[in-house]
Amino acid sequence: MSASLDVTSLADAEIHRLREDFPILQTQVNGHPLVYLDSGATSQRPQAVLDAERGFLTTLNSAVHRGAHTLAAEATELFEDARATVARFVGAHDDEIVWTSNATEAINLVAYAFSNASVGRGGAAAEKFRLGEGDEIVTTEMEHHANLIPWQELAARTGASLRVIPVDDDGALRLDEAVRLIGPRTRLVAVTHVSNVLGVINPVEQLIAAAHEAGALVLLDACQSVPHLPIDVKALDVDFAVFSGHKMLGPTGVGALYGRRELLEAMPPFLTGGSMITTVTTTSAEYLPPPQRFEAGTQRVSQAIALAAAVDYLSAVGMTRIADHEAALGHRLVEGLSAIDGVRVLGAGIDLPRVGLASFDIPGIHSHDVGQFLDDQGIAVRVGHHCAQPLHRRLGVTSSTRASTYLYSTESEVDAFLEGVAATIEFFGVRS
Ligand code: ALA
Repeated sequence: MSASLDVTSLADAEIHRLREDFPILQTQVNGHPLVYLDSGATSQRPQAVLDAERGFLTTLNSAVHRGAHTLAAEATELFEDARATVARFVGAHDDEIVWTSNATEAINLVAYAFSNASVGRGGAAAEKFRLGEGDEIVTTEMEHHANLIPWQELAARTGASLRVIPVDDDGALRLDEAVRLIGPRTRLVAVTHVSNVLGVINPVEQLIAAAHEAGALVLLDACQSVPHLPIDVKALDVDFAVFSGHKMLGPTGVGALYGRRELLEAMPPFLTGGSMITTVTTTSAEYLPPPQRFEAGTQRVSQAIALAAAVDYLSAVGMTRIADHEAALGHRLVEGLSAIDGVRVLGAGIDLPRVGLASFDIPGIHSHDVGQFLDDQGIAVRVGHHCAQPLHRRLGVTSSTRASTYLYSTESEVDAFLEGVAATIEFFGVRS
């Protein structure tokens, strides 16, 4: 694919051309062409990404940062080039990207750095991560469990308190409460950029400014934003950001932690063992500087290289064009669902920009039945609580059905899905 000009919108013809790059989008499911509306859970991979991983495995497979042989040297170079590609994609310096298995592991890495500092590991440099009674961690009621449970556990281990910014009846973050909850005792604010249930892009700039004014660090869960929007971590001024490869056309088993260089340099490690040390005796060890300090053990090399190929693919299409295309699909989803009698769209009333994702409830039909009825027509959606039980509870539902798009999704797929939802209601006979 040629370099992107990123100036014109993604036209239908171009999307249809792009779709040919994705083998799975040519398949049939239950006798129907696949309508894949579950990219929020995991995205599909273009041939270029599949080829990059296979090409590495068939010609260069080798462990990085160890062997002296030719394959090991070339693998190491590609692995570090991949890091640089991903770093550039989010506006970071190369050594500010740490490879992890996924975003969940990246969040746990930061939480464990705070834990280890709190028990005296990491020396004077790590003092800024030491937590104890009286300190506060702030998160929100709309988080994915991955950005909630590690903080619950960190609070339990250190004696710090966890404070939760509530949402309003529509599901929007209560910024008035945020300003009240973030204060001089706050040490860390962990917030999602885009809700994986509501699809709204949170006004995180205000929270980041409030956190920094209070002297706190900010961790941004960018799992649903980095794949869909142009993101610059420096412009956002976050201290940490996390994202997963498989949600951005890449493989499973690879994700990334962005951390400001001076923070990573001061942080004690999470996983320890081989590859993250300089000198080891039977009683002590000296650690490598970041990012290697946080990359113990044999690394996920083919996955990192394939993720870089995914980033190249996204960059060639252009992130601004992808964001515009998905914003239009997101509005089509919300408006189309809201117009169907008997459907309640979660967060429909929130006046914020959106990605291409919407969740809904049909009172009287369990989300699993909705999902199964749609699946019979080849339409793949996610059902359940989407790893966000507190938000569902606050909105008065135990589960919902979620449709989520990507650059390869089309208006006609959204329309087929909307017709499928209307047919579900007819079938179950619950129209009010
Ligand atoms: N976090 C992914 C989702 O929201 C799995 O579906």
